Formats: sequence, C-alpha cells, structure tokens
Amino acid sequence: MTEWDRNDPASYDAAARGTAELEVSGTDIIGPVVRDGLTSTPKTLPPFLFYDAVGSGLFEKITKLPEYYPTRVERSILESRAGEIARMAISHAGRNVSVLELGAGSATKTQVLLRALVAEQGATTFLPADVSGAALDAAESRLARELPEVKVHPLLAAHPQALAAGRERDDALLVVFLGSSLGNYDEHSAIELLADIRATLGPTGSLLLGTDAVKPLDVLLPAYDDSKGVTASFNKNVLARINRELGGGFDLDRFGHVAVWNEELSRIEMHLESSVDQVVPIDDLGLEVAFEAKERIHTESSYKYDTARLDRMFSQAGLARECEFYDPEHWFRLTMARPA
Ligand code: AVJ
Repeated sequence: MTEWDRNDPASYDAAARGTAELEVSGTDIIGPVVRDGLTSTPKTLPPFLFYDAVGSGLFEKITKLPEYYPTRVERSILESRAGEIARMAISHAGRNVSVLELGAGSATKTQVLLRALVAEQGATTFLPADVSGAALDAAESRLARELPEVKVHPLLAAHPQALAAGRERDDALLVVFLGSSLGNYDEHSAIELLADIRATLGPTGSLLLGTDAVKPLDVLLPAYDDSKGVTASFNKNVLARINRELGGGFDLDRFGHVAVWNEELSRIEMHLESSVDQVVPIDDLGLEVAFEAKERIHTESSYKYDTARLDRMFSQAGLARECEFYDPEHWFRLTMARPA
C-alpha cells in the first residue's frame, strides 16, 4: 500500500484507493481521544468514533429503519427541490459549481443533488469527505456506475482538513452538510465549524445544510431507540471498536443503550450505561476504567433546531440564510446559506 499522510487528505487520492481497510483508526489516532473521554467525569466518547467500517455499515442500516425519519424525509425534500437548489448555487456563483460534502458517507442522498447539477451544467466535480474509507469507496464506485458525468475526488478527512482542502481549489463550491450532523456539535463548536465553512466558501460559494427540527417525543425517541436494536448496536460498536483497535476488554452485554431527550438543551442524547460495578482494561492504553452500576458514557448529542436558533448561529458565523425547504410535516429542513 502506498504511503499516505493523514493530515493531507489530497494524498488519499494517490494512495490506497479501493482498499476497505483505510480508516481513521489505530492507537495513535483514537487512543488519546479514548483515554481523555474515559478518564473524564462524566465519561464521554466523541461521535466520530462510531464511524469505522462496521459502524458506517450499521449507520446505513439505521437510515433504512422505519423509525429513523431524518434520512427518508431529507431525501424526499432533495428529490423535490434539488433543481432549485442547484440553480440557486450556480446563479450565486455565476459559473459552474463543484460539491464538497462533509461526512459524505455513501452519498446516496447527495446523488440526487449531483444529478440536478449535471442536468444544469453538464458535469460536476464531487469532493466527498469522510473518516471512513470504506464509505468513500462505496460512494465512488456507485457514482462511477450510476452518474459517470460526476468527477469524484474522495477526501479521507475530518471536517477541518476537508475544508482546508476545499480552500486550495479554484472552483466555486457548494458545501453540503446533510443529515443534521451539525447537531452532533455543541453550539459553540457548531458556530466554529460554520465559520470554518464560511471561510471556505469565499464570495462565490454556498452552503446547503440539513437540520432536524424539534418534534413530538413519540417520534423523536424511537428514531434513536429502534425496535430491532440497530441503534443499540451502532452505539455499542464504539466499545467493540475499542476492543478491536485498542485491546479493550468491554463486555457488550454489561452495557445498555440509552436514548433520552434533554429538553433544556433541545437535544437527543445517547449514552452507554454500565449495568454493574466493573473494571474494564484497555491494554494498549495501559488503562483500567472503573464503572459504577448505572454509570453512563455520553456518546452522542443530536441537537434539534428551530429556524430562529439556526439564524443566530449563522449570523455569529458570518453566514446569512438565503432560503429553507421543508417536508410537508416540517420534520426536517434544508437551508441554503451564503457569506453575509
Ligand atoms: C448522522 C449524526 C445525524 O444524530 O441522527 C443516528 C447519527 N445517531 N442514530 C443523528 C445517529 C443515532 C445521526 N447523525
């Protein structure tokens, strides 16, 4: 396998394309993050750890569950509005646009938008960024088959590196951030990320942002605690991953999946709850982690927004909303924004 530089996503191109094992993984990358999270009080683990090859596969399964409405609803909005979105981005840029997608995964929803761009401008360049090489490989090979007018340059990169790669390019960019993944960030970090996106857009770029709306709990909670237990496996995969990659000794049967609504912060939280008092060794870190019965690891926040709150965040990031698109029930929104 060719050498590649983790801090230089562009080198992914030249390196081991087509291999499924290329992941942001290994002791050097996830070790410090896991150590920090499991030695702090309360215990936390960042959501990007979900997305190794196994976790990305489980997330794909989640997106097909009847309870998990965001993917289905967001796709339906894209299917009816992709033409308008494409024309808006092109008219703002005054020329053809390329698409840079943060956390692209397998990019099935984005394909709807790419198709609309191809219809408007004949071809386009797509820069899907993700921390899962397996997901990028899937996106690239499907697009080569189904939409060959799109030139694909995968970026195996976290968001800051992906945006830095975007700033290196001369194209007018449509930065796409779908699925309400912004909701994984606390407000302060979300504004920082939006400001980083703004800096990448320059005067000609646009942002298409997908965000989830506040809605009744009988819809929200099952979306994060489905009847087949796929979300529970997705959440527990973070422990399985520590076992695989860091010599961890987590017994997955001694942790439960917990999804709760935090009204004050307007977010769903996922936790892993230890069912017993236990000490878990993580050999590669030389660490022993003690848990009390009922003690939780906070693994994800998923903020739900209203338009007023989004507008405040945009304005603090130097962005302005251009328009928003909803499904008939107003469960999910797509927002077009550009530098203010
Ligand atoms: C991909 C981060 C948007 O928060 O809804 C799905 C991930 N977590 N089920 C979300 C997720 C639990 C998802 N995001």
